[in-house]
Amino acid sequence: MGTEEQGSQKTAGKVAPATGKLGVMVIGLGAVSTTMIAGVEAVRRGLAKPIGSLTQMGTIRLGKRTDNTSPLIKDFVPLADLKDVVFTGWDIFKDNVYEAAAHAQVLDEKTLAQLKPYLETIKPLPAVFDQYYVKRLNGTHVKKGKNKRDLAEQVKADIQAFKKTVDRVVVIWAASTEIFIEPTAVHESIEAFEKGLDNNDIAIAPSQIYAYAALTEGVPFANGAPGLTVDFPAMVELSKRNAAPICGKDFKTGQTLMKTVLAPAFKARMLGVSGWFSTNILGNRDGEVLDDPQSFKTKEESKLGSLDYIFQPELYPDLYKDLYHKIRINYYPPRGDEKEAWDNIDIFGWLGYPMQIKVNFLCRDSILAAPIALDLVLFLDLAKRTPSLRSIGIQEWLSFYLKSPQSAPGLYPEHDLFIQSMKLKNTLRHIMGADLITHLGLEYYD
Ligand SMILES: NC(=O)c1ccc[n+]([C@@H]2O[C@H](COP(=O)([O-])OP(=O)(O)OC[C@H]3O[C@@H](n4cnc5c(N)ncnc54)[C@H](O)[C@@H]3O)[C@@H](O)[C@H]2O)c1
Repeated sequence: MGTEEQGSQKTAGKVAPATGKLGVMVIGLGAVSTTMIAGVEAVRRGLAKPIGSLTQMGTIRLGKRTDNTSPLIKDFVPLADLKDVVFTGWDIFKDNVYEAAAHAQVLDEKTLAQLKPYLETIKPLPAVFDQYYVKRLNGTHVKKGKNKRDLAEQVKADIQAFKKTVDRVVVIWAASTEIFIEPTAVHESIEAFEKGLDNNDIAIAPSQIYAYAALTEGVPFANGAPGLTVDFPAMVELSKRNAAPICGKDFKTGQTLMKTVLAPAFKARMLGVSGWFSTNILGNRDGEVLDDPQSFKTKEESKLGSLDYIFQPELYPDLYKDLYHKIRINYYPPRGDEKEAWDNIDIFGWLGYPMQIKVNFLCRDSILAAPIALDLVLFLDLAKRTPSLRSIGIQEWLSFYLKSPQSAPGLYPEHDLFIQSMKLKNTLRHIMGADLITHLGLEYYD
């Protein structure tokens, strides 16, 4: 047999089918979540297409290029069908999903009116919230508890109640970005974390309380924001122990998506980069929250990481060691969700001659994020049903969707979108027992 496209073929056990209902619990029913939920309903009703969603529109090549076999991903791996997806969630405001979507002003009134009877039925559960962690918000629909452990127990009770109505559950954080928190001793082990819950440790933010509740319930957890949330040893341990898959954090939507496309191209061609200035204006609630320096710091750290990892300045000091990377986010209400991003990239070529590239991305933040949130939910549910994935903790193959991918201790994360895409598809081939694709292709020239 030829060797172009085959690699290791180890598979361990069959992926369980996606039978019954998949319950999706969304933390934060804001712009991204309501756009995802309304979008899924619009697709289910045949009103629109799920553009931007790899799980719904993507194909996967199997075998040789001459085989012409490229099924849809959703026909190749057993993913939950959209008709079987059921939503609920938590928010600090009482608005139902129709009201929240109308407030977010992402989807037009005509679309929302068509979906209104369905969207109105989804009402948020009271949230775990503390304004210390999100300075610019103040909600009223909030749980009360004697300590953080008690709040975690209340979230667990919410999950248990929802579990009774569906067959499987996934939790996703699409709530506001919390202030920057450094990992401390409380994050080092499950025992230390649980003690911290009892003692109301200040380094345990609400997002960590939800994540703890989900993972102890054996429920996969995705993090759409850049917070610490599941990115510390106690959560990785819980994830493995309870077969509750996790992945990295912060949806990779606009500017960072472009960065992780362009930077690998410069590196592949050995072009140097001396400066990369990125600025944004946006006027949605996310922009308002990020206007607070402590929340911005969390986002900044997440956005900064990608270039360092892609450029590997320690391997290419002549090209990247002096790179000046600056990121700004400016809250500018008139734009709402329609963010505008500018990048100025100072590059240099042969003999050091300088050049410039300007990128001006007029995007729609939640339109880009909604399909990512959906794909993460569906793929984490797949991971939970896959014997070789469910107990490994971090699902690095989902880095494709994230600004800050998580990876095993000591392993640097892959930020290059094309490596991430190949890793994702090869993981799908691997779990289904198909040959991996290496793109060697010598056998076509035998
Ligand atoms: N849209 C994008 O392109 C994009 C990309 C990457 C990351 N993100 C992140 O996704 C998250 C959601 O973005 P958005 O535009 O929908 O923001 P949003 O402000 O419209 O929605 C966030 C929602 O979370 C709620 N909330 C805040 N704290 C909560 C808590 N503790 N529990 C429950 N609900 C809580 C808020 O009330 C609000 O309804 C943000 O953290 C944002 O940084 C968005």
